Amino acid sequence: TRRFKIAAIAGDGIGKEVLPEGLKVLAAAAERFNLHLDFAHFPWASCDWYMQHGEMMPPDWKEQLADMDAIYFGAVGWPALVPDHVSLWGSLLKFRREFDQYINLRPVRLFEGVPCPLAGRKPGDIDFFVVRENTEGEYTNLGGVMFPGTEREMVIQESVFTRHGTDRVLRYAFELAHARRRRHLTVATKSNGIAISMPWWDGRADAIHADYPQVIVDKQHIDILTARFVLQPDRFDVVVASNLFGDILSDLGPACTGTIGLAPSGNLNPDRTFPSLFEPVHGSAPDIAGQGIANPIAMIWSGAMMLAFLAAGPNPDPRCGEAHDAIVAAIEAVLRTGPRTADLGGTATTVEVGDAIAARVRG
Ligand code: NAD
Ligand code: IPM
Ligand code: MN
Repeated sequence: TRRFKIAAIAGDGIGKEVLPEGLKVLAAAAERFNLHLDFAHFPWASCDWYMQHGEMMPPDWKEQLADMDAIYFGAVGWPALVPDHVSLWGSLLKFRREFDQYINLRPVRLFEGVPCPLAGRKPGDIDFFVVRENTEGEYTNLGGVMFPGTEREMVIQESVFTRHGTDRVLRYAFELAHARRRRHLTVATKSNGIAISMPWWDGRADAIHADYPQVIVDKQHIDILTARFVLQPDRFDVVVASNLFGDILSDLGPACTGTIGLAPSGNLNPDRTFPSLFEPVHGSAPDIAGQGIANPIAMIWSGAMMLAFLAAGPNPDPRCGEAHDAIVAAIEAVLRTGPRTADLGGTATTVEVGDAIAARVRG
């Protein structure tokens, strides 16, 4: 049977609290399904490392990670010590770009037992995927400040949309909608105001749509789209968006399902030329870090997504798929019965929730 090599990187803040719970659950799944998961732990990609070394990662980070099957990542950022753009461009955003993780797949789901902040919504009403472009778009370092410190100060921040980068995320979203979902694709756009890139993005969506005629396409400007996440969440199946729009939608969606503490993500390199990275959507949460009260479920569900991705790869191990299903079932059960962390109105600790899920995975 295959051995999978997985890099474990905790990062900062609650990353250090939720990662061990994710590892605990993966260990339980590995034991039950007889999987071989070899974890390699890395202390870098954290602000602590930065304070000691003056950089977020060692120069050979890419060699150290390149032959991993996946990266299991907590969260990074400690703005009291390191400016966020320095810590993030020095770690996570580098992973996404250098490992060409061009899909950021972010499921949004309302679970039984979780009170929905939207009136009258029940499980089943909110169940969709945000497919976020993850390597280009509005996230760039192109531009600059002219005449700094003067009245004439002027800031330019470029966006980049390539045909290659846009087509591949659209195609992934169409394929997901067509083959695995309800064949409805919402395209987030802003082709009224952002008058160059967004009409062009819409045009690329039309072009790819020709290959997926059975998928119904719903183009929506990002402003009304955010309103409909709140007012009509049941109309969404797959939502595809540029890097920034996808970032915003993937916090808003989970907020509509009760807490961002549940939301997982896969930063995918579908071509598998580089490792993919699995992490919660949320960040390091400095406001609650160190208290042991963070919800570990986003981290744990991200681990399940990682197994599903490994299960779908070349010479796959079908037990990875079974392990994914067992972890998701354990999450569902614990959300129904408790224990629950404070973001879900409970009083349980991070460790108690991790233990409860691990126990159910063990069976
Ligand atoms: P955040 O996601 O860290 O926190 C937002 C709010 O949600 C906070 O009130 C926090 O307590 C709460 N929250 C987040 N995760 C939770 C969990 N698992 N359980 C319970 N409550 C939770 O966003 P922020 O405050 O904007 O960012 C804090 C730091 O994290 C910054 O440095 C930011 O750049 C970084 N960040 C990193 C990532 C990442 O590593 N992928 C993602 C987002 C933000
Ligand atoms: C996310 C985060 C990152 C992003 C930040 C920390 C750079 O918010 O993963 O959603 O904007 O992509
Ligand atoms: Mn985000």
